[in-house]
Amino acid sequence: MAAPAALRFDGRVALVTGAGNGLGRQYALMFASRGAAVVVNDLGGDLNGGGKSTKAADIVVDEIRSKGGNAVANYDSVENGARLVQTALENFGRIDIIVNNAGILRDNLFARTSDTDWDLVHRVHSRGAFQVTRAAWPHMKKQKYGRIIMTSSSAGIYGNIGQASYSTAKLGLVGLSYTLSDEGIKYNINCNAIAPFAASRMMTPVVPDEVVAQLKPDYVAPVVLYLCHESCDETGSLFEVGAGWIAKLKWSRSHGAVVRKKGVPMLPEDVRDNWNKITDFTNFTFPENFQRPYLVLNEIESDTDTSATKPLRSATR
Ligand code: NAI
Repeated sequence: MAAPAALRFDGRVALVTGAGNGLGRQYALMFASRGAAVVVNDLGGDLNGGGKSTKAADIVVDEIRSKGGNAVANYDSVENGARLVQTALENFGRIDIIVNNAGILRDNLFARTSDTDWDLVHRVHSRGAFQVTRAAWPHMKKQKYGRIIMTSSSAGIYGNIGQASYSTAKLGLVGLSYTLSDEGIKYNINCNAIAPFAASRMMTPVVPDEVVAQLKPDYVAPVVLYLCHESCDETGSLFEVGAGWIAKLKWSRSHGAVVRKKGVPMLPEDVRDNWNKITDFTNFTFPENFQRPYLVLNEIESDTDTSATKPLRSATR
């Protein structure tokens, strides 16, 4: 039997934000090596969002071209998303893939987080992803094709001391990804989120060298490429990725308890007295949406258990 064909991106145009370093650089190199035309965006700033240089993006573009690939640089901040997408349209005539990857850190304990730090982190991560993706959206809709990645973080999913602003923005991108997956489904626009783990300037100061060697961006990029391939129909999902390990993450929900009774006021004591039941995960489910509170209305009226009811949406999430 013939081996399955390699995943190619010929004729596709990919925009990778923050592609001058770390993970983004690796995504850009790999997309180009598989035939995509790539917009290498990077404003060339430092880890804290300061500074500006064309060098970061230029070096990656040169590397791609030296290997026979097709790439152009863009030096705008992701906050000016329309300009990034314009670069793709002007140079390659279309936009198929967006990897929202650009990021900065402004770590500090919560009590010491300034307005400036909070706003800057949100401008780059949340507003940046919003601006870039919104600019591409009508083009993807029109061509009935799009693949989008949002870059989340374990800090957003699990929290992390000193990363209040970052974790808020990063989990927000998961919500954005879920919504875009719902809005995009009828236009063949898929959107997924990843929480990567890779050695880059973002984490090398805090990780020993032997661990760094196991955490190459090369072990994250193949996941992004697969999720962005036309043959992949995954959408609305979140993946943890690092060191060659890939896992899909889902919300889990306890069975819960209906503490309200028809015609009787609901009191804090009802909550207290049912707390063990509310927080018991013995019969947990993987919820796909928030419909359960609506179902409870019937439950209270008819005194039946609706927990086995199928979810309304059957996306791959
Ligand atoms: P990195 O610092 O090596 O690369 C980020 C790139 O984004 C830099 O080249 C920077 O110049 C660029 N950038 C920053 N602000 C920009 C803006 N406004 N417009 C355009 N470009 C901008 O970081 P790394 O580690 O490669 O991270 C990539 C993404 O993955 C980030 O979103 C980060 O938050 C996320 N992430 C990384 C983890 C890791 O283990 N490396 C862990 C969890 C999340």
